[in-house]
Amino acid sequence: MAASLQFNFKPVFPTKSSTNYAPKFNTIRCSASPTSKSYFITLLPGDGIGPEVISVAKNALQLIASLEGIKFKFNEMPMGGAALDLTGVPLPEETLLSAEQSDAVLLGAIGGYKWDKNEKHLKPETGLLQLREGLKVFANLRPATVLPQLVDASTLKKEVAEGVDLMVVRELTGGIYFGKPRGFSTNENGEELGFNTEVYAAHEIDRIARVAFETARKRHGKLCSVDKANVLEASMLWRKRVSMIASEYPDVELSHMYVDNAAMQLVRNPKQFDTIVTNNIFGDILSDEASMITGSIGMLPSASLGESGPGLFEPIHGSAPDIAGQDKANPLATVLSAAMLLKYGLGEEKAAQRIEAAVLDTLNRGFRTGDIHSAGLNLVGCKEMGEQVLKSIDSTVPAAV
Ligand SMILES: NC(=O)c1ccc[n+]([C@@H]2O[C@H](COP(=O)([O-])OP(=O)(O)OC[C@H]3O[C@@H](n4cnc5c(N)ncnc54)[C@H](O)[C@@H]3O)[C@@H](O)[C@H]2O)c1
Repeated sequence: MAASLQFNFKPVFPTKSSTNYAPKFNTIRCSASPTSKSYFITLLPGDGIGPEVISVAKNALQLIASLEGIKFKFNEMPMGGAALDLTGVPLPEETLLSAEQSDAVLLGAIGGYKWDKNEKHLKPETGLLQLREGLKVFANLRPATVLPQLVDASTLKKEVAEGVDLMVVRELTGGIYFGKPRGFSTNENGEELGFNTEVYAAHEIDRIARVAFETARKRHGKLCSVDKANVLEASMLWRKRVSMIASEYPDVELSHMYVDNAAMQLVRNPKQFDTIVTNNIFGDILSDEASMITGSIGMLPSASLGESGPGLFEPIHGSAPDIAGQDKANPLATVLSAAMLLKYGLGEEKAAQRIEAAVLDTLNRGFRTGDIHSAGLNLVGCKEMGEQVLKSIDSTVPAAV
């Protein structure tokens, strides 16, 4: 049996199964038997490789459910370009309703060339923003872990990349992506202007800071808050509030770093970081940078969480239209997103660990999709990779081939 992945994923919030959560939509929820826990999961395959990778993750969840005495009811709904084609909007009301009434939501990916020229409100990406807003998921957790089996996939030197295990906690529903005023106008010379507003209220900073401190506390107890407090007022408030919240977490070591330095340090010495917390735009950029340290976009999961209600779990990659429908996609990021769903969304720690271990075991047995393949290893497609993960999950099948 493979050793467990050292992702340090731990639940941050009480989950519905551990609180007095009252189902809002009884008609589509599973009826829980006294012996097994039942969960309602909305699946949003989306576009491009989304349906291929979601199919693999769904199979993994189904198998783990049967082995761990859990029950899942899945509801597959259209989202993104697929929803535009079907209904004319990127996030149909029915899809949002199903997501809101779920215990957790698993998304593949959205987007594609076909919809690139659509007006903004008719773009697949708009549907994703609407979904995040609808679910009020303000905290985006993105682990970047360099697995020993894939250390050569990193573009950084082996000695810099190996052992990297960090988590970026990004504020997801505030800051410059949502701040007002925004728009286009002209200046006094008639020249065109485009403008946006970076704005944070104290409560928005406090709640993401608490998520980050909780996350750091369950990892290695180190939190680095990234801002631009030497220039931006919104960052000055960010630093002040994060420092105030730190008094609630005396066991966590807090440091601050300017974003330009953080971007450098991530490629110079990424092992210095444990947990990073930052605003929406810096988090967008730094989490992509951190993910590339691992060298494998097809391996990285994410979780987006709110104060209550279902979390949204998705791979960090997009719909990869260049390889869609060719059975070339790496499904492991989505399988690991399903593991985050189990751990963060449902509190099913053991089931999550079993999936993480199965991913590691599959890699140990030498199976690789094209994006992570190197000489001497077994090149497989998306479906075969999924089959191999199922074999690794199922303890009745020997781990070694
Ligand atoms: N959350 C999302 O759904 C999301 C995120 C990013 C981009 N997008 C959308 O996806 C579309 C394509 O965007 P992009 O090309 O910039 O990013 P992308 O992540 O889709 O692809 C970038 C590169 O990585 C490869 N790749 C991505 N995922 C892979 C996987 N699982 N296995 C193997 N290779 C993989 C692709 O083939 C491509 O070469 C766009 O429409 C974009 O808006 C969606």
